Parts: sequence; C-alpha cells; structure tokens
Amino acid sequence: MKIFHKCALLVWLGIVLSGCGPSPTFLSPASLIAGHQAALYRDILIESILIFVLITASLIWILVRDRNRGENKTLAPQIYGKMAVVGVAALMIFLLDGADFVWMAKTMRAIAAPAASAQDINLHVIGHRWWWEFDYTDLGIKTANELHIPVGATVQITLDSIDVIHSFWVPQLSGKTDVIPGQTNHMWLTADQTGVFIGQCAEFCGLEHAMMRIQVVVDSQDGFNAWVANQQKPAAQPRTEDEQAGYKLMSTLCASCHSLNPAETDAKVGPNIAHLFSRSTFAGATYDLNEENLRRWLENTQPMKPGNDMDLKLTPTEIEQILAYLNLLK
Ligand code: CUA
Repeated sequence: MKIFHKCALLVWLGIVLSGCGPSPTFLSPASLIAGHQAALYRDILIESILIFVLITASLIWILVRDRNRGENKTLAPQIYGKMAVVGVAALMIFLLDGADFVWMAKTMRAIAAPAASAQDINLHVIGHRWWWEFDYTDLGIKTANELHIPVGATVQITLDSIDVIHSFWVPQLSGKTDVIPGQTNHMWLTADQTGVFIGQCAEFCGLEHAMMRIQVVVDSQDGFNAWVANQQKPAAQPRTEDEQAGYKLMSTLCASCHSLNPAETDAKVGPNIAHLFSRSTFAGATYDLNEENLRRWLENTQPMKPGNDMDLKLTPTEIEQILAYLNLLK
C-alpha cells in the first residue's frame, strides 16, 4: 500500500473510531470553567485558521504572480532585509500574541477559584494506583471512583496522592490538576447541568493508568441530599445464612483493605464499599457494577485489571456467599 493510502486509512479510522461512545470533551462543556476553555479554544482556532488562510493565499498569489513564464527571465523584486517589511511582520506578531495573551489572562481571571463559602462542597481527592478516593470532609462520607455533586454548587477540591503522580481530569467540568505525593494541590469546579460526566487520570501512573477513570454524577439538589443521606447510613447488616457467611468471610478476608464504615478515614488499600451497589461502576469506574461482573472479579481480578493489588483465591461457595452480602450494600 502506498504511504498516502496508509495515511488516508489512518485518518479515516481515527474519524470513525472517535465516533464510538460518549465523547468527554471540553468542547461540549457542562461547567463555567469548561465553557470558558471552549470559548478560548474556539477563538484561537478561528484566529489560527484566518492566519493560515492569509499566509497560504499570499504564498499562492506570489508563486503564481512571479512564476517563470519562459519569455521573461528577470527575477521577481527582492525584498529580503527591507526594514519596513520586517517591521510590519514583527508588529503583526506582537499584536496577535498580545491579543492571545489578553484572551488567556481574561479566561484565567474568569475561572479563578471563588472565595470559600459555607455552601461549598469540600472534597478531598486522593489518587491511588489505580482508583480515586473521594472524601467529603464535611459530610463524613468516603467513596470511590464515582463522584456525586449537586448541580450549581461550588466544589472546593484538595488533591493528594498516596503513591505516584496522577492527574484529575473531567474535561466537561474542569481542566486537569496534577495529584502529587507530598504536595497538596487545589482546584474547584461547578456543574451547570445534571448528568454523568466521564473523567480520566491524565498522568501516566503505571500499568493500569488507562483504567483509572472517574465518573461524576451531577444530581439535582434533592437527588444529592438523598444520595448523602443514604451514604451516611451504616452498611447493611446480614440477615440470611448466606449473607452472614459472606459478612464473616469479608470481615476476615476483605476488611483489611476495604472498609465497611462509610466514614472510615484510615488510608485503606482499596475503595470503601459500605454502599458499593449505590455505584454503577467499579474497578476504577471501568466495569459496570453488576452481579455478573462482580462474580468474574471475585473469581480472578487479574484478567480484568492486571497488576491491581487484589488477589484472592476464593472457592465458588465463598464467592456466592460474599456476593449475597455485597448485594445488600445499596
Ligand atoms: Cu493515575 Cu494515571
């Protein structure tokens, strides 16, 4: 295949594949920050296209005007080193870069963090290989991977990492902020509309970097209040024989990594699971949370997410008993 055809095929594949699934791009913004980012991007893109068209048209015009027509061998006018031309070019670059700088500074000012207020949601985000821990510091809730926020509320976020550098990025809601061990970073966001927005760890952090996603559920205020009330409840108690057997197994096998206390603040190895089934995904928000996927996960986590810390050898009976209990954790 000729190189041109190969390139064309790659471009075509890129276009076709990019149409798969929802596209979490800042170009469909759902927040004030992403809205300003998209506007700045659009303005600079239009400016770049105009410059490209102007330069290309000038080049084509000069090439056509001064082409060698055969009969006339004199050179086109030579203007190299003419200070007037250099001066005009330098002034244009200065004006265009100056305009870009002003645009950028205005955008930075517009998306600067607002002063903290009592109505804000305070969130501590902790990056782990390879999942996100969300600690609602004022609400006594710890959860993982799936973040709930009320529409319109200002969310003040502090970010820390427990191991390596990660980066917290939900494109439709905000820009990315690095999550660095030993250094607390800060960001904020607010969502203009309800819905589910996908995010992704944006700093390479090892084998499962790609499977370190974030799902942000933007609820109505009432929906958020109901979610909070449910999350604050203690984990369900086992009733049937299977549930009790599952609970006992979990107390010995799982409790050292996964807390069943919704407000657990000790740094655990794995996500808090007090209300596991209130989430729609698991394993770094990469698998739908349902009994079938969870059974596969308990059988052997490694084919589903190679390199993760969970490596249990459970019998089929133990798996069913644990599943019976996990199903209660709504
Ligand atoms: Cu965490 Cu990439």
